[in-house]
Amino acid sequence: MAGCSLTVCRGCCCGTENKKQAAARLDYLRQRLPSVDVRVSDCLGPCKRKDVIVVHPQPKQRKQGEKPTWLSLMHNMSALEELADWLDAGGPGAVLIPINLADNVFRPPAKSKKRSRRAG
Ligand code: FES
Repeated sequence: MAGCSLTVCRGCCCGTENKKQAAARLDYLRQRLPSVDVRVSDCLGPCKRKDVIVVHPQPKQRKQGEKPTWLSLMHNMSALEELADWLDAGGPGAVLIPINLADNVFRPPAKSKKRSRRAG
């Protein structure tokens, strides 16, 4: 798990329906994955997707060419638990993505915004 990181979109559209639940989901990820760097970002670009999370592979996998995995509709706890289990097992490039997250994966926009920041 060490070395993976997450970028969680908290832009204007992601999770707009319930910002309080979005904050709870962020808290869950930070507590469940204390050694994973969980960053918050403004809009990453694909707003129509909602509740976007980008999973960055460990450096070893990155050096082997593994790309970040973009997930959308990460608004329910079962999806977050699957994500946490995946990262516990090694994450992108180390182990296959759980089948239950397969429908959440999408291709990233050609040009994503890079305005991430660490949030408290
Ligand atoms: S607000 Fe999340 S991708 Fe735009």
